[in-house]
Formats: sequence, structure tokens, C-alpha cells
Amino acid sequence: MKVLVTGGTGYIGSHTCVALQAAGHEITIADNLSNSSPEALARIARISGTRPGFQALDMRDAPGLEKLFDAQCFDAIMHFAGVKAVAESVADPLKYYSNNVMGSIALFDSALRHGVTRLVFSSSATVYGENSRSPIREDAPVAPVNPYGRSKHMVEEILTEMCRANAGLRVMALRYFNPVGAHPSGLVGEAPVGTPNNLMPYLCQVAAGRLEELTVFGTDYPTPDGTAVRDYIHVMDLAEGHLRALEFLESHGGMHLVNLGTGRGTSVLEMLTAFQRVNQVPIPHRFGARRPGDTKETFADVALADRVLGWRTQYSLDDMCRDAWRWQKMNPKGYE
Ligand code: NAD
Ligand code: UFG
Repeated sequence: MKVLVTGGTGYIGSHTCVALQAAGHEITIADNLSNSSPEALARIARISGTRPGFQALDMRDAPGLEKLFDAQCFDAIMHFAGVKAVAESVADPLKYYSNNVMGSIALFDSALRHGVTRLVFSSSATVYGENSRSPIREDAPVAPVNPYGRSKHMVEEILTEMCRANAGLRVMALRYFNPVGAHPSGLVGEAPVGTPNNLMPYLCQVAAGRLEELTVFGTDYPTPDGTAVRDYIHVMDLAEGHLRALEFLESHGGMHLVNLGTGRGTSVLEMLTAFQRVNQVPIPHRFGARRPGDTKETFADVALADRVLGWRTQYSLDDMCRDAWRWQKMNPKGYE
């Protein structure tokens, strides 16, 4: 298939491009490079032997989208492009509604008018309410608590209504839990700008000596070791999930919402311990207060992904720690 990958130079998009090319698909990436580097294209090429097509493009640039769809025919779109920092979304909500919602509308509008009917959208577990009981099923109440989560939910709603109005559409929104790790080659990975907020990149930078110590946010949660529990999923498994979604849409119409997680919860302390053991590197750390807005425990019910996609995760927590650290060591300054 010929696939348009928006946000394809970013963290999850770049890994999915590698998987798409390995499966024989032809891809074109459209990205405004606001949170990624063109070096990712060279890295994807080194792994897969093919440099993907690339178009520097903002999703809100309707004439630019029009030109792209006029020039090339696509069988499907994987829509990763968007902004994703929860705290920033609270400080600058318009940036989130503009990039994530307006950008998506411009993309879908152009795509529909050019007859592209298959679409996979990057959604997030953050759409679920804070009080959802884990394991969280796809039919759990949706109640996002910040503009980022709301922007993702709005796009899900827009897609659902588009599918109601257009019988020929085939759409899957994938709700990712906590993507971590990197390609086992160490050539592509997550390159956060500035000090990372997320646990795994923070761990990596402490291990590398770029940050002094990790603060474990909260030790008094009602969990077995008192620290918060998440469903960390290796980015390679996530990429494979996208391939399965594309295959599923070959024979299924309408709107589908599917969780991508491992179905297993891991606490902050378990992650910290695994990282030190697997990589034989000490992580200076201290115990601090809870981070505002954090939930005690979030992990996926993955029965639907198993049933409809025939997909289960293959990579372990040890793989996630090993691959994240290999990427960090090989690329101490990301793609710079
Ligand atoms: P990322 O920032 O690495 O990748 C996003 C890419 O989109 C970047 O290359 C960026 O330059 C590009 N982009 C942003 N706004 C754009 C715009 N208006 N026009 C064109 N390109 C634009 O992030 P990621 O972690 O790879 O996330 C990919 C998608 O998955 C995002 O939509 C994100 O919301 C979603 N998601 C991520 C996570 C996570 O923890 N990483 C969890 C759930 C969902
Ligand atoms: N944590 C620490 N110390 C740190 C960083 C994180 O203890 O320095 C803890 C957090 O308190 C939390 C856990 O590690 O308990 C995971 O935190 P992350 O920031 O890595 O991930 P979150 O689950 O908070 O959020 C992530 C993404 C969101 C997304 C959400 C659900 O950052 O964008 O997963 O998909 F919405």
C-alpha cells in the first residue's frame, strides 16, 4: 500500500515507518519538524534500506495538504502528527486545539475529497477518566482532564461522526498506553527536547549523567510498593499494532477504538529496579511527593486488540529498559 504517515519523523511514527517499509509498504512522511529532526529519515533509511518520501508540511496548511493529495495517491493514512505534552496543554490550550484538532480536520477534509478512506489515528489512554478501574476496557467512561486529552477525544468524536456520515470510511483510533524503548539497532528512538517529563527518558538521562537524580513521584499510593503503576509498551510492539490495524481495515468498515498496551501494570519502583539490573547502571534517586494530576494505576484491557487485531505484545520490560538505554548511549544528544 501507499501510506501517508503524518508525524512520521517523530518517536512513534519513525518506528512505525520502519515496520511499514519492512512489510513492503511505500510511505511518504508529512511533518512540520516542530518536534523532530530530518536525521530520522536517514536513520529509517539505514535500518530499512529505503529512504521514505518526505514533505515538510504543517497539518493546518490546507493548500499544502491539497497539493500533496493532488500530487500523490494514498491507500491509507497513519495520523501521528500532533503535540503531546500534558502540562504544556494546560498552559497553552490553543496550541493543542489548533495542532491536534484543527490540523486533523484539515487533513481529513483534504483526504476525504481525494478519496482516501482508510485511516489510523494516534489516540491516547489519557482520554479515559481518572477514576477508570484498571484493566481499562475501550467502553470505559471517557473523561479527559486536560486540553491534550480533550483534543484527542475530540478527534475520536469527529472520526466517529465522519464514519456515520460516510459508509465507505474505515477508521481505527489506537489508544496508546505508555510507549517506551527504541528500535533494537539504537538508530531511532525518543529524542525529547529539553528536560524530559516522562519516566523512561528521565531514567536514561540520569543513567547518562545528564541529570543528577530521579525523583520518584509518590510513595503512598494504594499499590503493592506504594508507587504509581502504568502500562509501559515497547514502541516496536506499538509499531506492529499499527500494521495489524492497517490489515484489519482492509476488510472492516466504520469506526473502531482499540487499546494498545501490554495489559500489565508496572510500578515506578519496578521500572527503576529493572533498568538498573538490566543495564548494570546505578540510578541515583530520591523519593518525593506525588505529581499533581497523576493516577495511582493505569493499565489496559487488551482483549479487544487480541480479538480484532490478533496482536499481542512480544517485548518484555527488560527489552524496554535495554533498548531505551542503548538508544541513549548511542545518541547522547538525540539526533543532533
Ligand atoms: P512526537 O512529538 O515524537 O511526534 C509527533 C510528530 O508530529 C513530530 O515529528 C512533530 O514534528 C509532528 N507535528 C506536530 N505538530 C504538527 C503539525 N501541526 N503538523 C505537522 N506535523 C506536526 O510524538 P510521539 O510520541 O511520536 O507521538 C505521536 C502521536 O501519538 C501523537 O499524536 C501523540 O499525541 C500520540 N501519543 C503519544 C504518546 C506518548 O507517550 N508518546 C501516548 C499516547 C498518544
Ligand atoms: N514519574 C516519576 N518520576 C519522573 C517521571 C515520572 O516518578 O521523573 C512517574 C509518574 O509520576 C508516573 C509514572 O512515572 O507515575 C509514569 O509517568 P510518565 O510521565 O512517564 O507517564 P504518564 O502515565 O504520566 O503519562 C503518559 C504520557 C501522557 C499520556 C499518558 C497516557 O506522558 O501524554 O501517558 O497515555 F497521556
